[in-house]
Amino acid sequence: MIVKSLDHLNIISKTISQKLENGDCVFLIGEIGVGKTTLTRYLINNLQIQKKIKETAVLSPTFNLLYEYEIKDLKIMHYDLYRIKKVNELDHLGIFLENEKTVKIIEWPDLIKTPLTNKLEIHLEYGKNDNERKMNIHGSGKWEEFENEV
Ligand SMILES: Nc1ncnc2c1ncn2[C@@H]1O[C@H](COP(=O)(O)OP(=O)(O)O)[C@@H](O)[C@H]1O
Ligand SMILES: [Mg+2]
Repeated sequence: MIVKSLDHLNIISKTISQKLENGDCVFLIGEIGVGKTTLTRYLINNLQIQKKIKETAVLSPTFNLLYEYEIKDLKIMHYDLYRIKKVNELDHLGIFLENEKTVKIIEWPDLIKTPLTNKLEIHLEYGKNDNERKMNIHGSGKWEEFENEV
């Protein structure tokens, strides 16, 4: 699908955030500057609005690898794995080891091979003009039919 503008991206992100629950995993795939962090920001801010808590800044975890957000019963783990180049570095992060269920939103997830039940994969590409993007969605588990809902 074509994402026509930032406003359009925000509308799409609302549809996604309404369905997000602990245990879900969102993979964000695409080049630098294509909009992975921007989409994450909209997802988190829309969740904060839905759950009636104050909106916060959502910054890129490029250097920190991870930022966490507690939104009432939801716990969001926002990863940016751009700097991770080896599988053993990834293993050290233990992304899928913790016992508690969280929502994981992961930029640059290419090295992750762990099979995941409820996964939403979002592919972004540049479009014809500055504010346009192409978006392709592949879901599994509860997200399997989701591409027909947006
Ligand atoms: N339709 C759009 N979707 C996503 N980003 C857009 C769109 N139009 C313009 N942008 C701009 O593109 C940039 C995307 O940057 P960012 O989200 O940091 O990318 P990434 O995390 O993929 O490197 C932002 O400055 C954002 O405002
Ligand atoms: Mg980013």
